[in-house]
Amino acid sequence: MLRRRTVLASMAASVAAPALAQTFPSKPITIIVPFAAGGPTDVVARVVGERMGKELGQQFIIDNTTGAAGSIAVGKAVRSAPDGYTLELGHVGTNVANGTIYKNLNYDLLTDLVPVARLPQNPMLICSSLEVPAKTLKELVEYLKANPDKIPGGTAGMGSGSHLGALAFFAATGTTYQLVPYRGTGPAMQDLVASQIKVMVDQSSNSLPQVRAGKIRAYGITAKARSAAAPEIPTAAEEGYPMEVSIWHGLWAPKGTPPEIVDRLNKAAIVAMQDNDVRRRLEDLGQDIPTPAEMAPAAFGAFQKEEYARWQKILVAANVKIE
Ligand code: MLT
Repeated sequence: MLRRRTVLASMAASVAAPALAQTFPSKPITIIVPFAAGGPTDVVARVVGERMGKELGQQFIIDNTTGAAGSIAVGKAVRSAPDGYTLELGHVGTNVANGTIYKNLNYDLLTDLVPVARLPQNPMLICSSLEVPAKTLKELVEYLKANPDKIPGGTAGMGSGSHLGALAFFAATGTTYQLVPYRGTGPAMQDLVASQIKVMVDQSSNSLPQVRAGKIRAYGITAKARSAAAPEIPTAAEEGYPMEVSIWHGLWAPKGTPPEIVDRLNKAAIVAMQDNDVRRRLEDLGQDIPTPAEMAPAAFGAFQKEEYARWQKILVAANVKIE
């Protein structure tokens, strides 16, 4: 009897899903953002969400849920209803690195969420406050070496993009700085401008506007080549310290979200990424836009798995973990 009921239930669900997808979305959609408003993740969420909302005819509501480098927000997304109305917009830190760094996550990053669409990625700028007496990356390294572990630097917590950037910087330069955690690099940037903290490796989408405004200094970009958005900033390699870190973003939904709804959301994300105004706004911040093929749920899921294995090796080798 139980088996028959299960079969009937799954038949009903399979009939209902396409109908559900036809009326989806019938109410506003929430995007859970794992960091504070005003930071790089929030910027991507608001730009992409606004355009997806236009495409789907429903408002996208941003829910900034912070803490533990985004792992609290991801848990909230995992536990939300799999109906397409709650999504999570995260990145390589929240949806890959944290799986290795946090030993007691109560979810599996690769199976408890389903990939909806890959989103833009951007390199990082090695930055300092204007009070730091260094004009080149070499002078910054010398300054840090002369003050071992004394210089406060910003991150958004262990596993955040700015933490991964700091680790890559430490490895490339043989220096360290104090890792001061914030709820996001939006608030951290305010303190860098105010020289409350002195250094930060932060995504170009957050740091480039402050560099352009003359409020902070950038010494190098963590990419193979200079960014078209900031051709005056040399690569870290040109300055003698090769390091490449790119923070890619993505959109996920809770496991069990009907594939028809995932597909509808993915198509709206692709429309958003092909929109000229959206591309201009994001590319001006140093963001690289993925192709529709790269954005496909299956391709994005395969990419996330590859990144998970790659960062696991790096983080285990660097003994970065939180029990
Ligand atoms: C943010 O949005 O605040 C950043 O992504 C934080 C980080 O990952 O460094």
